[in-house]
Amino acid sequence: MIAVRGAAQVLRPPEDGLAYLRHDRAGELTLEPGDVVLDDGVIAGFEAGAADVEVDASGAAVLPGFVDCHTHLPFAGWRAEEYERKVTGVPYEEIARAGGGIASSARSLAEATDDEVLAQARALAGELLAHGTTAFEGKTGYGLSREGEARAARLGRELAAQVRQPMRLTGLFAHAVPPGFTADAWMDEAEALARECDVDALDIFVESVAFGNEHLARMGAIARDTGRPLRAHVEQLSTMRSVPVALEWGARSVDHLSRMHPADVAPLAASECAAVLLPGAELMNAEDLPPARALADAGTIAVLATDFNPGTSPIASMPVIVGLAVRRYGWSVREALLAATLNAAYVLGWSEQLGSLEPGKRADVLILDGPAEHVPYRFGHNPVAVAIAGGEVAWVRPDQAWRVRS
Ligand code: NIG
Ligand code: FE
Repeated sequence: MIAVRGAAQVLRPPEDGLAYLRHDRAGELTLEPGDVVLDDGVIAGFEAGAADVEVDASGAAVLPGFVDCHTHLPFAGWRAEEYERKVTGVPYEEIARAGGGIASSARSLAEATDDEVLAQARALAGELLAHGTTAFEGKTGYGLSREGEARAARLGRELAAQVRQPMRLTGLFAHAVPPGFTADAWMDEAEALARECDVDALDIFVESVAFGNEHLARMGAIARDTGRPLRAHVEQLSTMRSVPVALEWGARSVDHLSRMHPADVAPLAASECAAVLLPGAELMNAEDLPPARALADAGTIAVLATDFNPGTSPIASMPVIVGLAVRRYGWSVREALLAATLNAAYVLGWSEQLGSLEPGKRADVLILDGPAEHVPYRFGHNPVAVAIAGGEVAWVRPDQAWRVRS
């Protein structure tokens, strides 16, 4: 039994059992003082008695663990030189001609051994945990060939078995059109991969340089046929009007939305499809900002994630993502925290198990080093003092070790 005692704030949903909370209701989240009791890997209640492990939460906010529902783990290597060329004005076409972009990460993945890929990804999962991420999603997408993508799916599952967090795996089999294929021809391969590989959800990159809305519809049909949720990278770099297509196919989420058409805000908000916003990619890739304030006001199921990948968002920290969203979207702290927890769990089909502090849910709990308002305000600072994952103290920041006593 773990007693988290004397918190200045405990973030709770307005009621138990919500699969998600629409963003126009984010103000109903409560941040009252209190205790949290964990027993047998789950949240047991909110009144602390005697316990084996005591966590002193004085002056601190206690939050559910962050859920990062959009990363590209596992990937191999990094693309820092490409980033420098990009910010100093080298056009993307030139970077791509020189072998950069997704193709560069595909080469790195192909050249790395399984052990090398898994070692890098395990270390990064540890970095996620140290920044409060207690559940995450990863994707295929850097395989760029039939065998490469099948391997990426296998490595994703191996990674899931090796990390402390629960991990969902998404098949992003339609990420870039591999050399020698047309987009149409590659969709036949992507369909075969979707049917053969062990993945939890399907995803596609809809963009002028990748796949079109007709391919999104085809992926929607495959997802429906194989009983997996459809997710989609849409409206990142150009306005393709992919949102209505994704809604027609009952997508679980549409991700990016930097260039979404204003007319698509209301239908998205009226649906059960989540809007996954990725402010790390928007910053690092110099993208437009999505209509995040309008989406929240309209009652969208809004979500934040890192998009952690070596190209457009080498950012592992959910606190940084929360900070970017508050500053750049004009979101309240509650709006950002809701988007990084319960609504993100909904995207992964896990909102019955995790994503909020409710009796019976997985004991994924963060004790911060200050109030919740400091998460966005002290931008770049890691506010996570103690991370409890599945009822175990999984991370303690060295200067905060005094909080934990057993
Ligand atoms: O989510 N949009 C496409 N895919 C990734 C980035 C891919 C890359 O550059 O490696 C994204 O931003
Ligand atoms: Fe992505």
